[in-house]
Amino acid sequence: MRIVCIGGGPAGLTFALLMKKLDPGHDVTVVERNRPYDTFGWGVVFSDATMAHLRRWDEETAGAIEAAFAHWDDIVLEFKGRSIRSGGHGFVGIGRKRLLNILQARCESLGVRLEFDREVRGDAEFPDADLIVASDGVNSVVRQKYADVFQPDIVTRPNRFIWLGTRKLYDAFTFVFERTEHGWFQAHIYKFDAETSTFIVECPEHVWLAHRLDKLDADASVAFCEQVFARHLQGARLMTNARHLRGSAWLAFQRIKCAQWWVGADRRQSGHAPVVLMGDAVHTAHFAIGSGTKLALEDAIELANQFKQAGDAPADLPALLDRYQAIRSVEVLRLQNAAWNAMEWFEVCGTRYCDPLEPEQFMYSLLTRSQRISHENLRLRDAGWLEGYERWFAQHGGDTSTGVATPPMFTPFRMRSVTLKNRVIVSPMAQYSAIDGVVGDYHLVHLGARAMGGAALVMCEMTCVSADARITKGCPGLYTDAQGEAWARIVDWVHTHSDAHIGMQLGHAGAKGATHLGWEGIDQPLDSGGWPLISASAQQYLPGVSDWSRAMTRADMDRVLHDFVACTRRAAAAGFDWLELHCAHGYLLSSFISPLTNKREDAYGGSLENRLRYPLEVFAAVRAAWPQQLPMSVRISTHDWVEGGITPADAVQIARAFKAAGADMIDCSSGQVSKDEKPVYGRMYQTPFADRVRNEAGIATIAVGAISEADHVNSIIAAGRADLCAVARPHLANPAWTLTEAARIGWKAVNWPAPYRSAKPQLEAIFERGRAMGGQA
Ligand SMILES: Cc1cc2nc3c(=O)[nH]c(=O)nc-3n(C[C@H](O)[C@H](O)[C@H](O)COP(=O)(O)OP(=O)(O)OC[C@H]3O[C@@H](n4cnc5c(N)ncnc54)[C@H](O)[C@@H]3O)c2cc1C
Ligand SMILES: Cc1cc2nc3c(=O)[nH]c(=O)nc-3n(C[C@H](O)[C@H](O)[C@H](O)COP(=O)(O)O)c2cc1C
Repeated sequence: MRIVCIGGGPAGLTFALLMKKLDPGHDVTVVERNRPYDTFGWGVVFSDATMAHLRRWDEETAGAIEAAFAHWDDIVLEFKGRSIRSGGHGFVGIGRKRLLNILQARCESLGVRLEFDREVRGDAEFPDADLIVASDGVNSVVRQKYADVFQPDIVTRPNRFIWLGTRKLYDAFTFVFERTEHGWFQAHIYKFDAETSTFIVECPEHVWLAHRLDKLDADASVAFCEQVFARHLQGARLMTNARHLRGSAWLAFQRIKCAQWWVGADRRQSGHAPVVLMGDAVHTAHFAIGSGTKLALEDAIELANQFKQAGDAPADLPALLDRYQAIRSVEVLRLQNAAWNAMEWFEVCGTRYCDPLEPEQFMYSLLTRSQRISHENLRLRDAGWLEGYERWFAQHGGDTSTGVATPPMFTPFRMRSVTLKNRVIVSPMAQYSAIDGVVGDYHLVHLGARAMGGAALVMCEMTCVSADARITKGCPGLYTDAQGEAWARIVDWVHTHSDAHIGMQLGHAGAKGATHLGWEGIDQPLDSGGWPLISASAQQYLPGVSDWSRAMTRADMDRVLHDFVACTRRAAAAGFDWLELHCAHGYLLSSFISPLTNKREDAYGGSLENRLRYPLEVFAAVRAAWPQQLPMSVRISTHDWVEGGITPADAVQIARAFKAAGADMIDCSSGQVSKDEKPVYGRMYQTPFADRVRNEAGIATIAVGAISEADHVNSIIAAGRADLCAVARPHLANPAWTLTEAARIGWKAVNWPAPYRSAKPQLEAIFERGRAMGGQA
């Protein structure tokens, strides 16, 4: 085969040498615009797994690369005058030049033709080729030429960065954060040979512009960075090898994805050989996760592997290229997702984390930024550091009693006069089992069992402020004294028989009322016996299906506000410890907040400030009626998942407004406002919203949604992404979820109900055996 690789970066060179090695009869050429020793960049980072992979394919190349590696284990954070070190992270780095030279030398020794100093304008320059590999990097001309087939999806990110080097040697992967008068800068630093470290400087675009860095050339930018990081450089200089670039040497990361990775199935029809994309030309991963070179090498290995599998004469080249794309695109997507989280962390850290977080917690947040490394992963990497952090967290979380390393999930949390024993809430879950709004034995058993199961706070389901505020006929209420007394029986039971607290969630169904019980047809309107619906504006929740609601008048607003206050008084009289106002999920108060459901033209519609006016009036009246010493949270939909709906940025504004009105916490749910929603589910999928609200609005938050393991709770709480975690469905499967999770992670200092205690050592022993065998029981 005649193979041409356009671009002699890691992808093109590796593929060329592997193909030549596979069959010396192949005629392989790499065409590169640069001269052999002339390249951009400093060092790149790999993981051990990538090297093992390469070794299986070419021992010599892997050996040469490994001999040139700089290894390190530690990550160091330099922040607010502190230096914090954690170990066990295992990286290897190599100079990009060195890497390319090793690959070039290996290509030459195998007989690959290397053509340097040649700028390729397109694949038409190689009419005799049987296969053209477009390994021409992030600005690939070949990708642009066939953009209609490849369908590249390119997102340019807001941060700016500059890739520099320094002779100062760092013995760890070092992150330095420095504040300037216009905002924070961060440096990502790692040694890659005996004399040199890579020193990438990054900042948000607005900071970059405020410092007029767009006007500075490479040398002036270097001088600027030396000044910002002078304390750390201690006289060492920064270096650039981007002087040849015209204009600014600063870059904005472009995330590239392609729907199709190759083109030209039929040469007679297309007039050219198949062209296949590889490496940065087809996908990019942000340097925050350090894997662009790994992906490029692994693409090359996989395509070579497909040729190896196909034997001497790959008859069906299109099928082979399809398989290459199918295999690689899954792995690439996985990595891009993880890189995305890490990249976003660095984009927002200056506004979200740098100021509120102390260095210890900032370090934890930094280490877990991709959400691929959890609390228990950190323990495997550096148990000593993690225990130190757990001790620090326990003390700073207000538990002054001990110097014991406590899993963050099991640290107490205080709000007003209430001290929760740990960070777990049974999230409110409608049971549709009340009769005329009165809770009965079902609720006593259901809530009582969960109160005994280890969670600190059991939140009751949405309880309605009037008969016509109910979602279904099975929903509980607090609008009669009999309902209040029925709730008091449950509250008393929980207080007498458990050390859990119990919370009331008050709500009004609005346009989502008068429907069937959850299991008889969720959101489906009652055939008979329903009631008139009200909401911010007239609407049908399910278009063409739901009953129409009518827009509330001022008189309706006064009545509903009065109902909320009356129910609040009954909740206080019943002895509840905590009150949550339900302003989420498209129900009445939520219908005011979201622009999708609020089309009013009076003072309660239009701007977010106007849309919040009525929910805030209700909040203020409820807060005034609720005992001062007891906490109040507000549940909001932090994301409508619909174009034009509430976004997480709006959620920060909403949280600020409730905070100013006296809310203690924001319970960060999302969605259920419109049936057009397109939520992106995944583990802990709403936690980023709780994180954003907490650290931007400066109010305590509750994270909820697909939090299903102690490891999730520990990671969320320890990183300061939320203060409490609400767990819903896992509590339906297992009322003693918290006690079970404690045993699973080997945490014994939890209080079991006295009559159940004989089960505790047994459960702990089962999990202990599972851990000893290297797995989960
Ligand atoms: C600041 C920064 C830090 C990074 N850090 C890391 C890291 O730590 N670890 C890591 O794995 N990755 C890192 N990367 C990413 C890494 O550099 C790339 O992902 C990797 O080099 C991709 O390899 P490639 O062969 O696909 O493309 P490239 O390395 O970009 O190679 C493409 C080659 O094609 C040549 N070329 C382009 N157009 C033409 C043309 N028309 N004619 C002829 N030749 C052409 C170019 O000169 C270049 O040599 C970093 C990137 C940046 C910007
Ligand atoms: C059966 C059921 C009923 C629910 N009822 C309520 C409710 O009354 N009030 C509320 O705010 N959320 C309600 N939710 C949402 C949960 O509180 C929680 O936000 C959601 O299930 C995501 O958490 P999970 O992934 O832990 O289940 C309900 C969820 C379920 C599964």
